[in-house]
Amino acid sequence: MVKLYVCKICGEPYIGGEAPDDCPFCGAPKNYLRPVEEFNELWKQELNEQEKKDMQETLDLEINATAYYQKVSDNHEKYSKQNRLFKQLTRVEKEHAEIAAKFLNIEMPEIKGEDPKGSVEKDLERTKELEKGSIEKYQQFLKNADNSEVKNLYVALIHAEQGHHDIASKELE
Ligand SMILES: [Fe+2]
Ligand SMILES: [Fe+2]
Repeated sequence: MVKLYVCKICGEPYIGGEAPDDCPFCGAPKNYLRPVEEFNELWKQELNEQEKKDMQETLDLEINATAYYQKVSDNHEKYSKQNRLFKQLTRVEKEHAEIAAKFLNIEMPEIKGEDPKGSVEKDLERTKELEKGSIEKYQQFLKNADNSEVKNLYVALIHAEQGHHDIASKELE
């Protein structure tokens, strides 16, 4: 029987018989996809100064990744494998940026960031680097956080970015 789920992390709805392994919108693990009745807005929190600083850095990382992956996706023929891969990376990173902006209670900034690196291999290597860099930052931000919902956010982001890192590694094999 189909049900309406809502992702605790990004707030996006999903209709299906069962929740998917990862949120299709933000990549959060399955346990964050909950029946709609349980939903509340994760990002309505009072952040302390450290959490604000870390959230701003999260937003900056996600905006750069969104812009970069969008440009890489646009460099490939529509519906080609690389175009599809980088389109999905773009979508997920944009969702992450939107969540960080909601935590900061600000409008989404303009999406701008670095340019493609000139070849599929270089872009996949850069993807691995960006994702690894984000994972390391988010592990630190997870440790820094006092707020339990901020911690939930970083647990979910680390899981999603790990998936991105792994799929880029697989493409390079
Ligand atoms: Fe989500
Ligand atoms: Fe991200």
